[in-house]
Amino acid sequence: MFVEFIGDPTVFGNFKTHPVVVEAVEEAIRSYAFNGYPPSVGKSRAREAIAKKYSHPQAPLTADDVVMASGCSGAVEMAISVLCNEGQNILLPRPGFCLYNTVAGSRNVETRLYNLLAEKNWEADIDHMESLIDQNTAAILINNPSNPCGSNFTKTHLKAILDLCERHKIPLISDEIYADMVFSGQVFTSTATLTSTVPILTLSGLAKQWLVPGWRIGWILINDRNNVFENVRHGLFALSTLINGPCAPLQAAIPKIFAEVPDTYLLTVNKQLETNARIVESELNKVAGLDVITPQGAMYIMVKLNLETFADISSDADFYHKLKWEESVEVLPGECFAYPGTIRLVITPPQDKLRIATARIAAFCERHRK
Ligand SMILES: Cc1ncc(COP(=O)(O)O)c(C=O)c1O
Repeated sequence: MFVEFIGDPTVFGNFKTHPVVVEAVEEAIRSYAFNGYPPSVGKSRAREAIAKKYSHPQAPLTADDVVMASGCSGAVEMAISVLCNEGQNILLPRPGFCLYNTVAGSRNVETRLYNLLAEKNWEADIDHMESLIDQNTAAILINNPSNPCGSNFTKTHLKAILDLCERHKIPLISDEIYADMVFSGQVFTSTATLTSTVPILTLSGLAKQWLVPGWRIGWILINDRNNVFENVRHGLFALSTLINGPCAPLQAAIPKIFAEVPDTYLLTVNKQLETNARIVESELNKVAGLDVITPQGAMYIMVKLNLETFADISSDADFYHKLKWEESVEVLPGECFAYPGTIRLVITPPQDKLRIATARIAAFCERHRK
């Protein structure tokens, strides 16, 4: 049996979306009302529902502040494209989701990686972040909760990042695709709710919380209380015309999904993720040479490799290849996230598969020990 630790929660069938989500799409399709082209920025009822759900007294939103995108990936692409010109630079997290680098690179935008500190629950090294800023810095991007770290920033830390943006007058892109997916004792805070000055493009979508990554529904929230993003808003509207928005019936399902899926659904998903995380953590922490960094949310666990422990494993990529070949277990090497010396595991497989996979990783490490 091959156990693949990739970031799609639907692979094993144990994480299923709520039946109301499916009903909402079924109703939209059966109505025959959504077979035409949607407006390129998105259907107004979907945008209204999203604005209502994410509006906060400190960060009010209307439908005009929402731009639909083809998944959160589409939102990432539009946000980077609209804020950064060729030759400018963008600050990205290390370790971080590799798409940011790919999108920026494809637009000839220079990427500068700021360090996340494993020993501080993966908080950003603010001094390092600041040292990377110059007059060509077009945006700072954060991802909270994080892929690959499984971390969740405190309000205090988010405010420190916002202070930096404020001081240097740099807009923020806040990738919140794992919004509200946090474990016991953790509180998720959307970055835009903590500032009245820093302009923020908040990115999210249905993929993770509603467990439908294949539906490709994402969005951008334009948080701009002082009208400094006027051109950016026009730019996003213009960019949206390139592909004419995501699938219309799926957009049409959003109001029902937000109104009728009970809050208990996400609590159950989070509990299941947390239970899985604790199983992986306790099993792998027993293995010499591995050091699990306790996750606080999202769907991932980062594990540090103590390479001196092993006789014949030279890097995280070597660990990845040998593990896959010898044990049929696929993890991702940290080098995929610009963070060598680690591996990333996904905590969505069913518990029996997680136990098989962690046992095989333990056997693998034992076999390769010095
Ligand atoms: C941090 C982060 N941002 C964005 C995305 C892309 O989301 P989507 O599947 O909606 O395109 C992912 C997907 O794994 C992700 O982990």
